[in-house]
Amino acid sequence: MKVGFYGHVRQYHNLKAEIDAAIHQVLESGEYVMGPTLKRFEGELAAYSGMKVAAGVNSGTDALWLVFMALGIGEGDECITTTNTFFATAEAIWIANATAVFVDSDPRTHCIDPDKIEAAVTPRTKAIVPVHLYGQCADLKAIRAIADRHHLFVVEDNAQAIGARGKDFRVGELSDAVCTSFIIQKNLGTFGDAGAVITNREDIDRRVRVMRNHGSEKRSQHSMGYNSRLDDLHAGILSVKLKQIDAGNDLRRKWADRYQQGLKGIEGIARPSETPGYRHVYHLYVIETRKPADRDPLLQFLVERGVDAKCHYPIAIHQQQGYPWGRAARISGGVPCSERNAACCISLPMYPELTGEEVDYVIEVMLGWDRSVRQCRPPRTCN
Ligand SMILES: Cc1ncc(COP(=O)(O)O)c(C=O)c1O
Repeated sequence: MKVGFYGHVRQYHNLKAEIDAAIHQVLESGEYVMGPTLKRFEGELAAYSGMKVAAGVNSGTDALWLVFMALGIGEGDECITTTNTFFATAEAIWIANATAVFVDSDPRTHCIDPDKIEAAVTPRTKAIVPVHLYGQCADLKAIRAIADRHHLFVVEDNAQAIGARGKDFRVGELSDAVCTSFIIQKNLGTFGDAGAVITNREDIDRRVRVMRNHGSEKRSQHSMGYNSRLDDLHAGILSVKLKQIDAGNDLRRKWADRYQQGLKGIEGIARPSETPGYRHVYHLYVIETRKPADRDPLLQFLVERGVDAKCHYPIAIHQQQGYPWGRAARISGGVPCSERNAACCISLPMYPELTGEEVDYVIEVMLGWDRSVRQCRPPRTCN
């Protein structure tokens, strides 16, 4: 059996009639950029998020740096985040010309560790940028309390966790703005690049809208801006998929539960940890090998048996070649948990369109690896 890593083509087949109709409708309307389909989707996204406004932009990366710029964050200002995230979180801080300050991640959730943030705050700190990594919310209550003590902005990188919730908070409720990505493989993904800024702050929304459209609110009138718009074709597709997001996330949770049960006897790995009361939406199902030396052999074991597993993210940002490329960056304290996660992580296939047989096959291969490891350690000496 082969189990692929991505489910977006299956998702397209499941929603083909509605998606094709949405594309057709936009094509026939003749309005492809900043048209009525985008406007409608922005309203739907804000309503789904329980927030005042949403502005579609070209990508999740753009959503982040547009918000930083809308908040007036720039050269000399510091934004605190973790190195245990997709590269774009830090990249957006650098695009805004600010300093990226990295603190360690929580060893259980792999999101930013709130206990490490306060020591990183300086008079130059302007914002905390928590990432809801793998589909689970960072501890926004603790982060908000720190932000309040030091008068900082909070910008949520929610590229991976649309539909997630904290124990007693919603995404967006405790921050200045939420940035999300709709790239293909995200829980809510289109057939290309797209993103959005969702916020209760109308001043941020207005500035982002002006900047995304060449600094223009009115035809022929411009201030400095950029071209970062979400096309109506993508908005139409996303509108169809938004209706399915909760059902899709429920299926991800179902498959995660099946993995959790099936893998619980394997001593050589740690399974993902779901914080009680949180709704984890499993953008990724990430296990960690207990020994860094086991990670690459396990990955190979899975791939050789038809299971397309990957790593998110095997090279932490500060470990990338050439870091920080002349940009302003600082690591506060050490980041051993992020480095350990980079060395030990493996993402197993996770998407709503998986079948029970596929999930069971992945579990079976994992159990096979466990048996092989138990029989002869170290595994590389075995045939
Ligand atoms: C955590 C995180 N932040 C930011 C991004 C950037 O989004 P995009 O690829 O749409 O620019 C992504 C995903 O790609 C991501 O996973």
